[in-house]
Amino acid sequence: MKLIVESNYDMVSKKAAEIVDEYVKSNPKIILGLATGSTPIGMYKELINKHKTEGTDYSNVRTFNLDEYVGLSGEHPSSYRYFMNEEFFNGININHKNTTVPNGKAENLSEYCKNYDEMIDDAGGIDLQILGVGENGHIAFIEPAHELQVLTSIVTLSESTIAVNSRFFNNIDEVPKTAISMGVRSILKAKKIILLATGEKKKSVVKRLIETPLLCTDFPVSILLCHPDFTLIVDREAYVD
Ligand code: GLP
Repeated sequence: MKLIVESNYDMVSKKAAEIVDEYVKSNPKIILGLATGSTPIGMYKELINKHKTEGTDYSNVRTFNLDEYVGLSGEHPSSYRYFMNEEFFNGININHKNTTVPNGKAENLSEYCKNYDEMIDDAGGIDLQILGVGENGHIAFIEPAHELQVLTSIVTLSESTIAVNSRFFNNIDEVPKTAISMGVRSILKAKKIILLATGEKKKSVVKRLIETPLLCTDFPVSILLCHPDFTLIVDREAYVD
């Protein structure tokens, strides 16, 4: 694992955007794996700035998102499709047909999940995967459990994730109880992985990840320690020397 410690959230966003932007410039047909949540918002803003000021071209870039709430359409303001359009895709020259966020309204959800991994494989696999991490150590919506899903699947969200993510909804009862989430396989198959963790609330997750090189299913983010090209970017608030 490569660790980068930046002074604050803005510097983490800048650093992550610099890396992503360079990858896009050096491979205009790159396949990006993208994440939602508050953490990558600053990075998306920086990437939009770079697109506008330096002309970074996204016309041939393809993207796959990690997850989506079951039952929410892309028009729902709390859906991850809506988030991605608002926070990133609408600000760059990407062809929206080249962006894939799991369809939370798919008729046959299990068939859809199976196809999702195939879609990623058929595209050639993810070149660069961006990730955030939940306060309980989840990545995508792979929740702490005795077993972790290998393939893209329908998952039941933990009570703690529902509570934490309720800030994006009018009230906690509106938060869907299930989601489509990429599994461990497609994430680990990415050629390069960047995990962003910022703020006091991520301190214990970052500490455990750095100090305990163990693969633990009750701490899904630990699977990233098995990846040969994994970079963790944190700010001072999330990091203890
Ligand atoms: C959600 C997403 C994850 C994200 C996590 C952390 O549960 N499914 O992909 O990493 O939230 O979000 P935040 O960055 O807001 O702390």
